[in-house]
Amino acid sequence: MTRTDLAPVAPTEPGAPVPPAAPLLLGIETSCDETAAAVVDGGGRVRSSVVSSQVDLHAAYGGVVPELAGRAHLSLLTPVVATALEQAGLPGASAAGAPVDAVAATVGPGLIGALLVGASQAKGLALAWDVPFVGVNHLEGHCFAALLDHRDLAWPLVVLLVSGGHSMILAMDGPGRYRLLGQTLDDAAGEAFDKVARFLGLGYPGGPAIERAAAGGDPGAFAFPRAMADSGLDLSFSGLKTAVVNAVRRHPDATDADVAASFQQAVVDVLVRKTMRAATGLPAAGVCLAGGVAANGPLRAAFAAACDGAGLPLYLPSRAMCTDNAAMVAAAGAWQLEHLGPSPLGTPADPGAGLPLDVAPAGRGAVASTRPVG
Ligand SMILES: Nc1ncnc2c1ncn2[C@@H]1O[C@H](COP(=O)(O)OP(=O)(O)OP(=O)(O)O)[C@@H](O)[C@H]1O
Ligand SMILES: [Mg+2]
Repeated sequence: MTRTDLAPVAPTEPGAPVPPAAPLLLGIETSCDETAAAVVDGGGRVRSSVVSSQVDLHAAYGGVVPELAGRAHLSLLTPVVATALEQAGLPGASAAGAPVDAVAATVGPGLIGALLVGASQAKGLALAWDVPFVGVNHLEGHCFAALLDHRDLAWPLVVLLVSGGHSMILAMDGPGRYRLLGQTLDDAAGEAFDKVARFLGLGYPGGPAIERAAAGGDPGAFAFPRAMADSGLDLSFSGLKTAVVNAVRRHPDATDADVAASFQQAVVDVLVRKTMRAATGLPAAGVCLAGGVAANGPLRAAFAAACDGAGLPLYLPSRAMCTDNAAMVAAAGAWQLEHLGPSPLGTPADPGAGLPLDVAPAGRGAVASTRPVG
C-alpha cells in the first residue's frame, strides 16, 4: 500500500453525514478479555466500535481466567455484533442481503478458547452472508490502530507496540511490512504494570490503576533501574518489578503513590529512550505508539516532548484504540483483503501467532515475508 491508499476520502459538506465508502468490513476481536465488534469503511472511517469489557468478571482473580473469558465471549459476542451493525446504521441478516462486504476476525495470538469464539462466529457470518472472511493477526491490528486517525503518514515509522503480552520496537515500512528492531527479553510492559499493581493491591487491570495512583506521587522518590537503557533495542522489565518488590519491603512506609509514580517513570524513560534511539538510527519519518500501555498519559506526554525535540511526527491512537478493540482488526482486515486476498474458512486460530515479519535484512533487495498468503 502506498501513502495515497491511506489518504482521507474527499470531504463532504460541513455537517452532512458522510456516506460509507466501500468496502464495509465487520471486525470481530475476542483474543483476550474484551468482546468487541466494529464496522469500518473503505475510507478508514470507524462507523461503529463496540467493546464489552470483562474486567469485572476477572478482577476478583487478579487477572484473566481463560475458561471464563471464552464462556463470556460466547454469550456477549452476538449482541455486541448486533449493536455494532445497528450503530453503523446497517441492517442485520435480512432479505436485503449482506450488511457488510467482508468479515474480519482476530485469529491469533491470544487465548485459544477466546479466539475460537470470535473466529468461528466471523466464519459463520461470512458463510451465511456469502462474503469473504479475513483472519487478522492481533498484533498487526494494534499496528493499524494509529492509522485509523492518521492517514497522511510517511514511511518508515518506528512503532512501539506495548501491550499486555508483547513489547516490541518495530520498523514499519508500510502497512503490512514490519521489521523487528527490539523486543522484551522477559515480561511485557503491560504485564509489568499488571504485576506491580497486583503486588501493591491496586487492582486489575494494572496499567490504569498505576496511572491513577501515580498521579499524586513523586516520580523521583525511588531510583528504579532502567534496564539496558543504553545498550541495544531489546527491553527487560522483570528486574524492575523485582526492584519495586524489594523497595516496598525495605520501605514499608512508602506511599503507593510514590512507588507507582517511580515505577511508571522508569518504564516511560526506557521506552522513550529506546524508541527514539531506534527512530533516529533508522532514520524514521515518524514514531507511532500501539497497544494498551500506549494509553498511558505520562508515556504519551513524554513521547510528545521527545518527538517534538527530534522534529519527528508522533502518531498516537486515541486511548480507546490503544487497548483491544475491533476497529483496528477491521482496518487491518481491509488492508489484508485488498492486498493479500481473503483467508480460507479453514484458517485455524493460532494462540501463539507472531507478527508477520519481513525477514530480508534492511535495505537489501526483495523482501521475503513470513506472512502466510491465501
Ligand atoms: N493507562 C495505562 N497505563 C499503562 N498500562 C495500561 C494502561 N491501560 C492499559 N494498560 C495495560 O495494557 C494492557 C492491555 O493492553 P492490550 O489490550 O493491548 O493487551 P492484550 O491484548 O491483553 O495483550 P496482547 O495485545 O499482547 O495480546 C494491560 O497490561 C494493561 O495494564
Ligand atoms: Mg491486545
